[in-house]
Amino acid sequence: MFRLTTALSLLLLILSCGWAEKEEKPREKRQANKIHITLLYESLCPDSRQFMHQLGPVYEEFQDYIDILLVPFGKSHSERNGAIFHCQHGPPECLGNRLQSCVINSTGNQAAQVKFVVCQMLAPDYSRVDQCAREAGLLSDVDHCLSIETGTKLQLQAELVTKQYRPSFVPTIVYNGVFDQQLQDHSLRDFRGTVCHVLRQQNLLPNSSAICE
Ligand SMILES: *[C@@H]1O[C@H](CO)[C@@H](O)[C@H](O)[C@H]1NC(C)=O
Ligand SMILES: *[C@@H]1O[C@H](CO)[C@@H](O)[C@H](O)[C@H]1NC(C)=O
Repeated sequence: MFRLTTALSLLLLILSCGWAEKEEKPREKRQANKIHITLLYESLCPDSRQFMHQLGPVYEEFQDYIDILLVPFGKSHSERNGAIFHCQHGPPECLGNRLQSCVINSTGNQAAQVKFVVCQMLAPDYSRVDQCAREAGLLSDVDHCLSIETGTKLQLQAELVTKQYRPSFVPTIVYNGVFDQQLQDHSLRDFRGTVCHVLRQQNLLPNSSAICE
């Protein structure tokens, strides 16, 4: 029943929105059997926070199929090569973005990155850095990164990635390096369904997999 309605609603979505088939060109760095997702978000943005409720479980279920880049920057901008940052929700958000950049950069393990970011974004007071780092199996000792050039450098890198897509809304979810407004809209409502749609579209589900059924 559940599967049928999910399939039906996905079909209706596709029909009603005229979801165009898009040809995705593989990029060098991408792992061939995964979809690449770039998540542009901001540390104190309520919509970004809301999206974390979807990101956590969907990433956990689909981590074999998803290669994710977490970019905590959003509608911020830098001045004088990072001497100053301005953030949509003020200086505390700049600190939050910088902190997340530092923790994300402390590991190459995407599952741990996602775990930390989801945990910290959903913490009632937006803090709990130590607790979330511990739960993700990461070191929370990012003071060094925060206080020195590294933190600035990471935020400038995040700005460069963000600027490629000029997000009009935060969070912005980009599939395979190409922003698509329909995939964006669908992702906010049903991230799981959208991931399945993209996986099917790119023929990335093995015949034996029932993960999206
Ligand atoms: C952290 O950032 C530096 C500077 O961009 C980079 O060289 C390094 O590979 C990153 N480390 C991880 C684990 O991503
Ligand atoms: C998967 O199913 C399709 C359609 O039934 C078939 O053509 C294809 O050979 C199958 N691929 C594998 C790897 O079994």
